[in-house]
Amino acid sequence: MANINQNQDREQWGSKIGFILAAAGSAVGLGNLWKFPYMAGKNGGGAFVLVYFIILFLVGFTLMLAEIVLGRHTQLNAIGAYRKIRKNWAWVGGLGVLAGFLILSFYSVVGGWVINYIVKSLTGALNVSDAEVLGGMFGELISGTTVPIFYHGLFMLATLLIVFGGIGGGIEKSSKIMMPALFIMIIILAIRSMTLPGAVEGIKYLLVPDFSKITIGVILDALGQVFFSLSLGMGCMITYGSYLSKDTNIPQSATIIPLIDTGVALLAGLAVLPAVFAFGFEPSAGPGLIFITFPAVFAQMPLGSLFAVMFFVLVLFAALSSSISLLEVCVAYVVDEWKMNRKVTTIVLGVVIFLIGIPCSLSLGPWSDITLLPGKGFFDTFDFVSSNILLPLGGLLLCIFVGWIWGTDNAIKEATNDGNLEFKLSGAWAFLVKYVGPVAILLVFIRSLL
Ligand code: PHE
Repeated sequence: MANINQNQDREQWGSKIGFILAAAGSAVGLGNLWKFPYMAGKNGGGAFVLVYFIILFLVGFTLMLAEIVLGRHTQLNAIGAYRKIRKNWAWVGGLGVLAGFLILSFYSVVGGWVINYIVKSLTGALNVSDAEVLGGMFGELISGTTVPIFYHGLFMLATLLIVFGGIGGGIEKSSKIMMPALFIMIIILAIRSMTLPGAVEGIKYLLVPDFSKITIGVILDALGQVFFSLSLGMGCMITYGSYLSKDTNIPQSATIIPLIDTGVALLAGLAVLPAVFAFGFEPSAGPGLIFITFPAVFAQMPLGSLFAVMFFVLVLFAALSSSISLLEVCVAYVVDEWKMNRKVTTIVLGVVIFLIGIPCSLSLGPWSDITLLPGKGFFDTFDFVSSNILLPLGGLLLCIFVGWIWGTDNAIKEATNDGNLEFKLSGAWAFLVKYVGPVAILLVFIRSLL
């Protein structure tokens, strides 16, 4: 009885489009705008994109559906969802909540840089075309002490305020504003960038694969990137799915969300890389690509400062619509399982994550000597452990759970609303969850350890 009552009290998305925008908002984020272009740049461009696509088709769509179905079926947070079906699997959800904590703590540091860059572009401080000066400026920001921590705090505060408003009034409402704005801005920027003289080289770099560049490292990076970018493997889509009503068409949603995410990643690549080539910069500049190279590009472009402001606002929107989902995973757990007040939980967790983010920020400056893994400080360790280990591991366990423990028949029953909906590819999906997903993830894992 308790469960039924609890589910009746549970908030739900106000509309189907609201859910899709919120879930796409979770997926589209720094992973698309900041990481994808530099990962593609670093890993040989088209080669990386090709591997990314293969993994997306084999694993991305599959796990998106699996997570949403699991969430809606149980109407519970990540840990509760596993526990409801099989008690001793709750820890898998726990790994997810842990990943959410770790990701948000460094994610918010980068979100802070973005706010700082909005300020910089508004004050004209970015109006420099010398990449070296810009590099110095970026280095000074991220290696600082109080300034990056202050902006990290601002970003966490914004995240907290949205989650404070709940599912409908906070997450859904903000996504309905931020996501359409983001689509418009990224399209304008991609067109601007692709019409620069010399942009063709950048487009080619991104889209024409050089097979000799595909190594196991590239594959592991692409696997981690698919998980990170689609917000998979940590229960985020389980949590968002748990707020769905029983009549939503999940197979359709689980197709649209990855399509939007990949579309935005490609558009981001097409906004960043052609411009980088057009002005003769290096595509492999790494994490600084959008903070160093891109402003240099803007500075040389007509109306560049306008585009710069637009770009960083876009990145902020994308980052916020993701950070709220990361916080929600943790909040939903505490609210469901410990029966805590939602607002209090949001504040407490927001503050805790802010505190954990501080060492991440400091590890890029004053604490750069402290390493947790060989050669990796707090920031890089959190990123590596969450994206390249916890998320794929969470994905692997999710496949096993849905494919073998809960069973694909039960999952398909939920996905088709008890047989009332058509799900043409259900057979293929079952095969992918049971066999292809686990084997593919395991192979990449084992290879990368050797
Ligand atoms: N998908 C988000 C991005 O691309 C990051 C994220 C990962 C969000 C995992 C939620 C869960 O930036």
